[in-house]
Amino acid sequence: MNKKIISSVLVAAMAVTMVGCQQNKPGSGDAKLPAVGATIYKYDDNFMSFVRTQMAKKAEKKLALTISDAQNDQAKLNELVDGYISKGVKALDINLVTPQAASAIIDKAKPKNLPVIFFNKEPDEAALNSYDKAYYVGTRSSESGELQGKLVAEQWKKHPEWDRNKDGIMQYVMLKGEPGHPDAEARTKFSVESITKDGIKVQQMELQAANWDTAKAKDIVDAWISKHGNKIEFVIANNDAMALGALAALEAAGFKGEKAIPIVGVDAIPDALTKIENGEMVGTVLNDAGNQAQAVIDLTLNLINGKAPTDGTNWKLEGKAVRVPYKAITKDNLKEAKDSYGIK
Ligand code: BGC
Ligand code: CA
Repeated sequence: MNKKIISSVLVAAMAVTMVGCQQNKPGSGDAKLPAVGATIYKYDDNFMSFVRTQMAKKAEKKLALTISDAQNDQAKLNELVDGYISKGVKALDINLVTPQAASAIIDKAKPKNLPVIFFNKEPDEAALNSYDKAYYVGTRSSESGELQGKLVAEQWKKHPEWDRNKDGIMQYVMLKGEPGHPDAEARTKFSVESITKDGIKVQQMELQAANWDTAKAKDIVDAWISKHGNKIEFVIANNDAMALGALAALEAAGFKGEKAIPIVGVDAIPDALTKIENGEMVGTVLNDAGNQAQAVIDLTLNLINGKAPTDGTNWKLEGKAVRVPYKAITKDNLKEAKDSYGIK
């Protein structure tokens, strides 16, 4: 290999490393910031990319935070944690791949007395309770389903024309997130429960997991459209990324404008907010990326400094968890969601 080829290989290798790893470089004067190692279950997740950006922002001037991509591989995540510990980090901020793997992480952190703040994928209570320095920052999963269902019911009542076949029953399809993920399970169950609690009759035409993913959701909805056509009266998605995939499929098949089929999601990611603003999506539920990131950083700092986890903050601990509230979002209150995602 000549020199030129070697150096371009090196540059490529460096670029790959940089993509997988994000760092808050301690600037002059703050070289003594405590080092913290964080993982994201996979960078290729729409919502988590906002949580990640917000964490880096909230850690500025407080922590030397390194964030890495576990590439949807729990074994890889465990290796990242080993690497962090051998580099001497003062705490770990962990978005698990597999919720059941919390105890494996705790087993690594405990002998070094390192605080571990899990976020987004909720571990079992028993795992959290097994270590006094283990905490969880997230949401109450059931709340997102309840709020989404309530939003669907309210809008359905306002729009009698959405009952296309006039049978008084809502024929819906459900796009589920990753099976086994506490948010996916709870949203699927509680959204429908809260629609029917409101006295609305429903009929599930389809339910399939699209694992939180836009492209997968589009493929699934393409197939549903071929099968059911305009018999679908509502699309309920466990998150906005999948709602956007459904929207793309429906619009491509001509279900737009007056023929549009109502769609709801969860998260309030910026792309979904644009669709809500344009009237292409009915609404969503804010999964507050900004405040979840803030709570992770606040707890991390306090625990590193030997303080009570919520010391000097407004967060409330319920057992070992800080739960940031969800909020239903429609055209009428887009601003709150925009603030959480740091958009103007
Ligand atoms: C979000 C999803 C995301 C998942 C990742 C959920 O809380 O709503 O959009 O894919 O977390 O774990
Ligand atoms: Ca109907």
